[in-house]
Amino acid sequence: PPYLNDLAVAAGKLWFGSATDQPGTGEDTNILYQTILNDTHIFGQITPANAMKFVSTEPEQNVFNYTGGDIDVAIAKDHGKYLRCHNLVWQNGQLSDFVINGNWSADELSAIMKNHIDNVVGHFGSNCYSWDVVNEALNDVNGSFAPSVWYDTLGPEYFFLAFQYAQEAVAALPAGPKPKLYYNDYNIESPGTKATAAENLIKELQARNIQIDGVGLESHFIVGNTPSRANMTAQKQAFVALGLEVAITELDVRHVQVNATNSTSFAIQAQNYYDSVASCVEVDECIGITVWDFDDQYSWIPGTFPGQGLADLYNADFTRKPAYYSVGEAL
Ligand code: XIL
Repeated sequence: PPYLNDLAVAAGKLWFGSATDQPGTGEDTNILYQTILNDTHIFGQITPANAMKFVSTEPEQNVFNYTGGDIDVAIAKDHGKYLRCHNLVWQNGQLSDFVINGNWSADELSAIMKNHIDNVVGHFGSNCYSWDVVNEALNDVNGSFAPSVWYDTLGPEYFFLAFQYAQEAVAALPAGPKPKLYYNDYNIESPGTKATAAENLIKELQARNIQIDGVGLESHFIVGNTPSRANMTAQKQAFVALGLEVAITELDVRHVQVNATNSTSFAIQAQNYYDSVASCVEVDECIGITVWDFDDQYSWIPGTFPGQGLADLYNADFTRKPAYYSVGEAL
């Protein structure tokens, strides 16, 4: 087969990678899944799909649990893969009840944020190539801040505080390689209101001398409705013009009706994957491509978008889709 990570590295990228969701999802006990994930010729990087999120790492106030995240660190070390660490502050998504329901003052909530970031960044340390510091801060339509306990309590300052705390936590790590600090979102892969809003947040961070190193372009796309390669390249270049690197962080291309697929739809899906990957290849500062897991059996799509799916590079039975080969051609 084409070896996607080997091809990505030959194309000058740091990796072709995948999200993974272990333990407890079945991925950890599926030998075919494990064999493919662990093969660093195919995947040179992993992102924990859930294990490093707030609710996983600090389920009760100041009680930290690194069990799942440490598994990802071990996978990365054992197989020579990069690790993208995901994420520190994300709306109310997978946020612990104590944060959401605490009726905290602004000072109390910012102290909770700082304590979380200090502990989690401190624990995973230099194992992380990067941290997604803030995830999905923006509304889809008008690019304003999305509501969350963070925004509702702290206002827009929550965004800047998160990066400031992350910068301080990274600076406090022992000497050696330090995680890069990313903003990660979807619908910012091509020009538009939301991408412009993200650029403005980056400029504001920079005006305040707060560190940001990269933008994660999630790239959860729909078959036949993926931005054009030219538009995706233009938007990458716009972020790069601000002095940042970019990465494709959560690529998948879903069918909106799993019961209405055919060879044509899988060919379109392959072209959509091709365009996304080719756009990263043609921008030097696009450092890598990560799919949001690789096998339809474990895709997050059907659980979140009922009736949708068949979004990944491999069919549920671990045979490769046309999209797998088109990614190989793009690299
Ligand atoms: C998803 C996980 O894959 C699911 O298992 C979980 O139930 C919900 O979150 N954008 C992100 C990711 O940044 O964290 C999300 O991951 C998918 C969308």
